[in-house]
Amino acid sequence: MAPDESAIASGFILTENATLRDRNTLRVDARAAWLAEVHDAAAIPGLLEHPRLRDCPRLLLGEGSNVLFVRDFDGVILSMKTRGVERLDDDTYARIRVAAGERWDDLVRWTLAQGHAGLENLILIPGSTGAAPMQNIGAYGVEVGEFIESVEAFDLGEHREVQFDRAACGFGYRDSIFKRHPDRWLITSITLRLPREWTARIEYAGVQDELRRLGVSRPAPVHVADAVASLRTRKLPDPAVIGNAGSFFKNPLVPGWQAAALLAEHPGLPCWPGAGNTSKLSAAWLIESCGFKGLREGDAGISNRHALVLVNHGNASGAQLWALAQRVRDAVHARFGVLLEPEPRVIGG
Ligand code: FAD
Ligand code: EPU
Repeated sequence: MAPDESAIASGFILTENATLRDRNTLRVDARAAWLAEVHDAAAIPGLLEHPRLRDCPRLLLGEGSNVLFVRDFDGVILSMKTRGVERLDDDTYARIRVAAGERWDDLVRWTLAQGHAGLENLILIPGSTGAAPMQNIGAYGVEVGEFIESVEAFDLGEHREVQFDRAACGFGYRDSIFKRHPDRWLITSITLRLPREWTARIEYAGVQDELRRLGVSRPAPVHVADAVASLRTRKLPDPAVIGNAGSFFKNPLVPGWQAAALLAEHPGLPCWPGAGNTSKLSAAWLIESCGFKGLREGDAGISNRHALVLVNHGNASGAQLWALAQRVRDAVHARFGVLLEPEPRVIGG
């Protein structure tokens, strides 16, 4: 439904009974009672006091590349659409404040074009900048938390602006304070701190081979970006072609003793050191070993390119996708004793 003209107030656009199909990359045909798109962060307090929204449940949404709607949402979805990139001065670092509604991949490309290195391994990750701290987006050996100086947000419980420095964000693997308290803080901008001295981060499996393939012997930041982009394009299905939310499960962190026991039985299982005494296992390998790679049930499926990616071949409902994901989780648990946790936010699951 088109936005209700009478509901367009300064700084936000309100739509009643909004379709979400084009607002989630799994392309689930869900609806929200209300959708509020915020174009000016200063409008947030007024929006929260809107008579039709004051008592509604709230859900925060960016570009929907890490959510699964299992059912409709009977409340208001708040989505930051603010734009703007501001340079803040600093000699040792390039400090940049970025509005939540900027696309993450555009930002990575902009920083590289400006000669600021650091984010190149995080190229081609879909979604908005405001969502990046949420799960501390990471790829090819780098996580965004390393570069975050602060996160600016609106506290939806206390109705006031707040700022988190990096330590207060509590970043971990696919984790942060924001993820642990969903819908409490609406992130309005982030401030990045990119070191002026650059060291290539090319240890992740496949990156150096890809650089060689591209004919690069002394990589500059743009070469690393090109290598990562080409690996990602080869490995992951494109949401513009087939609905998906990237990795559907996190790589599980298990105690060292459990990893050792599993490796003794399955020497091919990819395993990396995790935080503390844990080991990180490849969820894709566990899922592929259970025979799910390429499986299709109706329009719900598991990608034949990457076993960690749940796909919508067309008209799968959120409930069908979630039922398949649960089957995968149960099969991995039964065979390996490892419980997989979804990476995306599952709404109504
Ligand atoms: P959404 O999906 O809209 O929301 C995700 C979560 O963030 C939700 O809990 C939502 O409530 C919350 N949120 C959104 N905006 C805000 C805000 N302004 N304030 C507070 N909370 C908010 N992720 C990786 O880490 N690494 C990858 O390599 C990677 N590859 C991907 C590849 C593909 C093909 C796809 C489809 C996804 C991939 N992802 C990856 C997941 C996804 O791109 C990231 O999680 C991204 O940050 C989500 O951004 P979004 O704007 O789409 O957020
Ligand atoms: N593998 C399989 N089968 C597959 C695919 C992979 O067995 O179908 C095994 C391979 O042995 C491979 C290993 O899994 O060596 C790791 O695969 P890959 O390099 O693709 O990484 P991943 O662990 O599957 C993680 C992130 C991705 C991120 C890449 C690169 C998680 C949950 N996923 O995937 O993030 O892009 O590493 O850093 O941590 C996302 O979060 O949505 C996402 C795509």
